Amino acid sequence: MGRPHTEFIQTQALNWRAIGEKSTRPGAQVKRLSVDPDSRACTVLLRHPKGWSFDEEHYLDDDEEIFVLSGALTIGDVTYSKGDYAYLPAGYPRPHMSAPDGADVLTYLEGEHKRIAGKAPEGGFDASTLVERISTEQVAWGGATDPNVASAGVRRLALRNNPKTGDTTWLLDIDETGMGDEVNRLETHPVVEEVFILSGEMHMPQGVLKQGAYFWRPPDIPHGPVGTKTGSLGIFRCKGGPLTTDWSEETYPVQWNAPYNPELPEDVREALAGSYDESLPY
Ligand SMILES: [Fe+2]
Repeated sequence: MGRPHTEFIQTQALNWRAIGEKSTRPGAQVKRLSVDPDSRACTVLLRHPKGWSFDEEHYLDDDEEIFVLSGALTIGDVTYSKGDYAYLPAGYPRPHMSAPDGADVLTYLEGEHKRIAGKAPEGGFDASTLVERISTEQVAWGGATDPNVASAGVRRLALRNNPKTGDTTWLLDIDETGMGDEVNRLETHPVVEEVFILSGEMHMPQGVLKQGAYFWRPPDIPHGPVGTKTGSLGIFRCKGGPLTTDWSEETYPVQWNAPYNPELPEDVREALAGSYDESLPY
């Protein structure tokens, strides 16, 4: 069945909740953005309060992918600061973790992501999928890979690409010239597209995605057109294979400032706290 279509939420409208002691981050707080009811895979925001630490040596039985939104999180000998990305496969060793000044981290967890106490088995993780750290604010970016999107105003930074599954994660930075067309085509992908907006605005028929907006869109759903006049930076993932795009023949007007009209599962609709504080980033 997979995760339900969730397009879109402003994550500011969700409440932070205490996370369980048996979780991957005892003592942290969580906002659940989407959850697979079968596999338990999920996308969450994790808030590690100032002074947070977890000193019990452990590893997880599933993959974890992180992008630091603010503060800094240390896992073993590696410290992840704002804008840092990592893909840590199941079995990656975690001798200790800490966030002395606190850290907010966008986190993607596969499977049941159980915490297993003790030293990780030697060679017990798939090194071919490990991305130990990318400091995204310090590396060179490329252009968009889709010729329908490519322009001088669009930059793309690949973060990972699993050659076996085709699952990919990237940052896409569109400046105010990159997608300001008044008309555009609809797009459809054969895979899940998942996006979290880091800054700027994206205008879609479901409303205006601002900083902190999130969506999980199952495969084969035509979407768009998309436009931005402010520019927009987002972290994108595709799941279920590489992202290819079917573009519609016809063009449609971009719906600037469309009223909020989301597609949401019932439990997410209930969890939304209603209006939200626009001064918060997420
Ligand atoms: Fe898309």
